[in-house]
Amino acid sequence: MTPPRLLAPSLLAADAANLERDVRLALEGGADWLHFDVMDGRFVPNLSFGPHICKRMRELFSLPLDVHLMVTRPENLVVPFIESGASLLTVHAESDGDLSRVLLAVKQNGAKAGMALKPATHPDTLRPYLPLLDLVLVMTVEPGYGGQKFLSGALRRVAAVRAMLDAEKPGCLLEADGGIDAVTAGGCVEAGADIVVAGSSVFSSGLVSDNVKVLRALLR
Ligand code: DX5
Ligand code: ZN
Repeated sequence: MTPPRLLAPSLLAADAANLERDVRLALEGGADWLHFDVMDGRFVPNLSFGPHICKRMRELFSLPLDVHLMVTRPENLVVPFIESGASLLTVHAESDGDLSRVLLAVKQNGAKAGMALKPATHPDTLRPYLPLLDLVLVMTVEPGYGGQKFLSGALRRVAAVRAMLDAEKPGCLLEADGGIDAVTAGGCVEAGADIVVAGSSVFSSGLVSDNVKVLRALLR
């Protein structure tokens, strides 16, 4: 049975002065997960949120917190984020350190473990980690910033990872992240994504709850 497709609005694009209001509006529209982008200024040039914001979101909301670590050294962040209420922790395949140990630590601390791929990283990179993975995140833009254009070739990569998961790790969820809006969401789902992340197309213009409703309807 195919799992239901989920929409994960990305907090990065929410109004920084009104995070609580914006997440509430996204929930009113039917948001399934909250995507939480963590950037360290090294793995990507930008900086974003730390565990204290994650903790506050957990205190305010009960939806799953989907933490995407765009950091060079993820190992020291596992416990702080899980203690702050992360439901799922995704590390990049291109990060440094012993990533199997990091994924194992995520699971031992009670969260689900994911691995993300930058656009240029070959899907085969995932193979050694598959036994530990609950989710794979395929970047459909270069990580680091919201509001970028969906990359051509991204759907082919989503489909390639889907085929690998179906053959080698059925049940592992597939998430697409970056440049997803009402035009690109349907293709992601057709290519096999279970979860789509959407930042700008949810929070940057129009009514947040309506934007969520429109995108969610496209995932059916
Ligand atoms: C990019 C982040 C994305 C980003 C998506 O580095 O991983 O989650 O917030 O934002 P949009 O939907 O605006 O591309
Ligand atoms: Zn992300």
